Amino acid sequence: MELKELTEKFIEIYGGDKSDIRFFSAAGRINVIGEHIDYCGGPVLPAALNLRTLVAARKNGGGVIRLAATTIDKRAELDINKLNSYRNLEWGEYQAGVAYVLRNEGYNIVGCDLLYDTTVPFGSGLSSSASIEVATALTLSTFSAESGGKSGDNKELAVLSQRAENEYAGVSCGIMDQFASAMGKKDCAVFLNCATLDYEYIPIVLKDCAFVVANSNKKRSLQESKYNERRAECETALDILKKHIKGITCLADVSVSDFEKFADKLPEVVRKRARHVVYECERVKKSVAAMRGGDEERLGKLLNESHYSLRDLYEVTGKELDALTELSRNFDGCLGSRMTGAGFGGCTVSLVKKDKVSAFIKHVSEGYKKATGLTAEFYETAVEDGAFEVALGII
Ligand code: GLA
Repeated sequence: MELKELTEKFIEIYGGDKSDIRFFSAAGRINVIGEHIDYCGGPVLPAALNLRTLVAARKNGGGVIRLAATTIDKRAELDINKLNSYRNLEWGEYQAGVAYVLRNEGYNIVGCDLLYDTTVPFGSGLSSSASIEVATALTLSTFSAESGGKSGDNKELAVLSQRAENEYAGVSCGIMDQFASAMGKKDCAVFLNCATLDYEYIPIVLKDCAFVVANSNKKRSLQESKYNERRAECETALDILKKHIKGITCLADVSVSDFEKFADKLPEVVRKRARHVVYECERVKKSVAAMRGGDEERLGKLLNESHYSLRDLYEVTGKELDALTELSRNFDGCLGSRMTGAGFGGCTVSLVKKDKVSAFIKHVSEGYKKATGLTAEFYETAVEDGAFEVALGII
């Protein structure tokens, strides 16, 4: 929604005039490669998108945070002295979780009216929840600072947003999504070490190709999916491998050669999960080298290998994502394709020759409809900055 329209909607809901309304924006993300390894301390390569959550916000001088959205007809009110009691809200739980965690960290949470406008499709693997959390964290932190309390930089807000999702929403997600949403940079992927939170921006300079994001429109929720189960399987693998390999603190510390040496110590299913993690870490490093060297063919191959590993070893793809990526790969002009995000549904990312993007979309959408009965959606994405307060007049 344009700022003008959002402002009108805000006044319609909350009254007052436009003079003291502020706008905060946080990004959805794609992950180029490095899937299901952030919670194992691995390296990942996400990028912040132009699909985003925009919050119109105003302090209200009271003890309540009021929440509304443009895309759904839900409302919620959070008493700032009872922030622990909104875990089962039908809508507003992410915002409540962030307010709760920030308050526990010593931020001065003040009453405010918030209106959310999200263009990140829900349940699509593009981090709609992280964008809501980070936009909320940035708003509340800014208001905290302005009322004499603590404020956090974007990196800290990413960590607190992740904590909200872990502790409040009950999803044991890693740090990747919130970090990309808060810390992303225009036209760059974030090469993030999830064990140390050290990061480097890798310019996305594709000569002949573009990344195309396709939504399988198979919805899923991390709360219902096998996400937490996979995480637990990785912890089991680490516990066992620690007995054999000295000095490892996370699965990403395990080298390929050590893994192959001790793989037979792991039960079969756990071994498959750990094998994915160990080799996916390698693929991320190779992908960064390919991007730096402008080797698009190589990058495409690594995307394919990542998908096969998520399909056969980690088992988080499903027939829709497999069909979508296979149709993509079969198109002459697509160099590689993989699921992006948690899987079980949601989106894919494909590396496609720039001059063939329209033909690619036609080919894949027709084939996908035939194969699954579902309609795939394609997004015109651009890589943008992570989270910021919108300077009025810019959008
Ligand atoms: C979800 C989680 C992330 C990450 C991905 C899989 O998006 O929120 O932390 O684990 O799945 O790579």
